[in-house]
Amino acid sequence: MMLDFQLRGQEARQAMSAIEALLGRMTLAEKIGQLTMSAADQAVTGPVVARGLAQDVRSGAIGSVLNLYGTERVRAMQRLAVEESRLRIPLLFGLDVIHGYRTLFPVPLAEVAAFDVELWEATAREAACEAAREGVDMTFAPMLDVSRDPRWGRTAEGPGEDPAVGCALARAKVRGFQSQDLASREALAAVAKHFCAYGPVQAGREYASVDISERTVCEVHLPAFAAAVDSDVAAVMPAFTDLAGVPMTAHRQMLRGWLRERLGFSGVVVSDYNAIGELIAHGVARDRSDAAVLALEAGVDIDMMAEAYRYGLPPALERGQVSERQIDAAVLRVLTLKERLGLFDDPFRRCQPQEPAAALARRRALARRAAAQSLVLLTHRGAVLPLQQARRLALIGPLADAASEMRGCWALVPDERAPVSVLAGLQHALGAATVKHAPGVGITGADRSGIAAALQSCEGAQVIVLCLGEAAAMSGEAASRADPQLPGCQRELAEAVLARAAELGTPVVAILFSGRPLVVPWLFEQADAVLAAWFPGSEAGCAIADVLTGQVAPSGRTPMSWPRSVGQIPIFYAERPGGRPYAANNHYTSRYLDVPNDAQFPFGHGLTYAGFELSNLQVTPEQCRESSSIEVRIDVRNSGSCTARETVFLFAHDRLASVARPVLELKGWRQVELAPGAQATVLLPLPCRDLRFLGPDLQWRYEPGEVELLVGPSADRARLLSSVVHLI
Ligand code: NOJ
Repeated sequence: MMLDFQLRGQEARQAMSAIEALLGRMTLAEKIGQLTMSAADQAVTGPVVARGLAQDVRSGAIGSVLNLYGTERVRAMQRLAVEESRLRIPLLFGLDVIHGYRTLFPVPLAEVAAFDVELWEATAREAACEAAREGVDMTFAPMLDVSRDPRWGRTAEGPGEDPAVGCALARAKVRGFQSQDLASREALAAVAKHFCAYGPVQAGREYASVDISERTVCEVHLPAFAAAVDSDVAAVMPAFTDLAGVPMTAHRQMLRGWLRERLGFSGVVVSDYNAIGELIAHGVARDRSDAAVLALEAGVDIDMMAEAYRYGLPPALERGQVSERQIDAAVLRVLTLKERLGLFDDPFRRCQPQEPAAALARRRALARRAAAQSLVLLTHRGAVLPLQQARRLALIGPLADAASEMRGCWALVPDERAPVSVLAGLQHALGAATVKHAPGVGITGADRSGIAAALQSCEGAQVIVLCLGEAAAMSGEAASRADPQLPGCQRELAEAVLARAAELGTPVVAILFSGRPLVVPWLFEQADAVLAAWFPGSEAGCAIADVLTGQVAPSGRTPMSWPRSVGQIPIFYAERPGGRPYAANNHYTSRYLDVPNDAQFPFGHGLTYAGFELSNLQVTPEQCRESSSIEVRIDVRNSGSCTARETVFLFAHDRLASVARPVLELKGWRQVELAPGAQATVLLPLPCRDLRFLGPDLQWRYEPGEVELLVGPSADRARLLSSVVHLI
C-alpha cells in the first residue's frame, strides 16, 4: 500500500481506499490503539513512564512510541508491530529532535540569532538525516511559541519575541525536517508546537495560565502556526496551557475552528505529554473519560501518555458522548501520516545506520558554522577583540571547561564525541601553553574556595576570559527562573576578577551561556566585551575560538530584547505607543522612576569587528495598492578593516490607523557579507498585503494612508533610516 499525500485524482483515491479498507477491518480497540502514543524510557520527557510497551504493541493497543531510538531498538519494537500484531500496522516513532540528534546545533533561540533562514533549514535537514537513520519518524519540533518573557525557560526553544521571525523559522524548519518528500528515508514528520500562546504564561512561570487578548493571539501567536500549516507541516501539538480558561488540548474553537476549518489543516493533532489527563487538573474534566471526550471533540487525534483515549473513549462511546465516526476520522489521519512517511511501504525504512564518514564531517562543520553565527557580541569597548595570536590568557569561570553544558536543553541522545569546551577550543586555536584555566566557582552552589586561585591566574595574563552563565538544565521545559541573573556565587567571582583586572590593567572578555537574556547590567558596564554564547552545541569551543580570534567576525543579533531589570519584563520592541508615550521633559509620560524604559539591548542588536554604514534609503513606488509590492533599498558599506556580515531589518509603523499600531513591526530582513571598503545595495521586497492589520472588528484590513518604513541594524529607533509609503 503506497499513498503519496500529494497525489491527486485516481491514484490518491485508490490509496485512500486502501487505508479506508484497513480501517474497515479494525476493532474499536485497534482504532483507539492508533490514537495512543506511549513513551519508552530511553529518554524521560514527562512525569509518567509507560509499562508493558511490548505487550501493548503486540495487542495493537498503541500505534506510536516516543522516546525510543537507535536502529536495533526501533527495529525490534517495529518487528513486534508488523510481525506479531493482528493487523501488522507499523508503529510511528517520535522523539524531541529539537536542535540536533547526536550532533547538536545551537539551541533554537541561539540559532535564531543568526537570522539566516538557509542555515535554519540546513540544520533541520542534518538533524533529520541523523535521527532518521536511527529509526525516528517524527520530531516534536519546531517550537514556535513567541516569548517576550525571559523568565520562561522554554524561551530557549523558540523564535524569540517576534512573530515575523516565528513565521520564517516555521517555514525553514518544516522544509528542513520534512524535505521535499516525507517518505524519504531521511525525512522526519515535523510537529508545530505548542499551539498556541504558551509563551505568555503568567509571570513567566512554566505551565501557568495564559490570559491575553484575542488580538494578541491573532497578531503575535498564530502567524507562525499558519506559516507551518502553509508549509505542509505534518502535525501540530496543542500547548499544555489554557487560554483564558480553555485548555488548548480541549480548545475546539482553536483546534477545529481555526486550525482545521479556517486554515484547512488536514494533518495530525498530537497532544502534549499527558495533557489530555491534565484536563482534570485544569478543572474542566471530571475524569479520564470526560477528558478524552473533550480532547477528541476539540480535534486531538493522538493521546500522548495519558491513556485517556484507551480507557476513556470506550465508555464515552457507549454513553453516546462521542461517535465512532469521530474516532474513525482521527484514525484515518494517523494512518494517512504513516502512509505519507512510507511506513506501510517499508516499516524499517528509517533504520539505516550506515552513512559515509563525510556526512558526519559535513554535519560537524555545519554545527561549527551555526554556532559561530549564533554568537552575539553584546558589548565591545576598546579593541580587546579579536584576540591576537599567542596572547597569554586566563580562562576563568564554571563554564570554561563544561563540555556537557554546551549541549543545552533538549539534548536527549548521547554522542560518543563529547562537545568541545571553551577551554579545548581555545587551547586548540591558541596553543595549550597560552591558556591558564581556573573555574573559580561552580555554576550553582556557595563554594567560594576557588576564587583565590582564579584571581591568581589573572597575574601575567594579557587577556582574561570569563565564562559565566546558567547550567543547560536551567532552560527548556519546567525551567522558569523568577530572577534570571547569574546563579550561585558567579557574580562574586566575576566582580572579584573585574576588580583585580582593573588593578592590573588587563582587559576582560565575558562569555555568557544561557537559554535566555540574562539581567546582568553590572557586567555590561564593567567588562571590556560581552559575548552572548547561549548554548552553542557540539562545536561550542571551536566556534567561540573562531569568533574570539577573528577567524569569523561575529554576526549574531539578539532575537529578544535584553531587560535592564526584571521589573521591565515582559519587554519587547513592538509595543504600542500609549496615550502618553515617554518624553524626557514631561513627567506625566510612561516611565519608571528607577530604570529607563528601553531595553539594555534592543531586538536585533549585535556588534561585529567591522563597521557598517547605512545610507540612501529608497522606497519605490511611493504609492501602493494592496495587490502590489514595494521595493525598499538601502546602501550598506563596510567601513571597517575585516570582512563581516551585516543584517538589515525592515520595520513598519502605521502612525494613524483605526486601531493603535505598534511603534515598530518587523516586515523582513536581509543579510549581506562585505569585504573591507565594499558597498552593496540591499533590496528588501515588501508585499503591500503585509501592511494589513486586524481592524477593530478583528478582521484583516488594508487601510489607506501613510505608513512609515524604517530600515536599520536593530529595533533601536535612533539608528533607523525612515521613509514613507502611501497606501491607496
Ligand atoms: C512535553 C513538552 O512540552 C513537549 O514540547 C515535548 O515534545 C513532549 N513533552 C514530548 O517529549
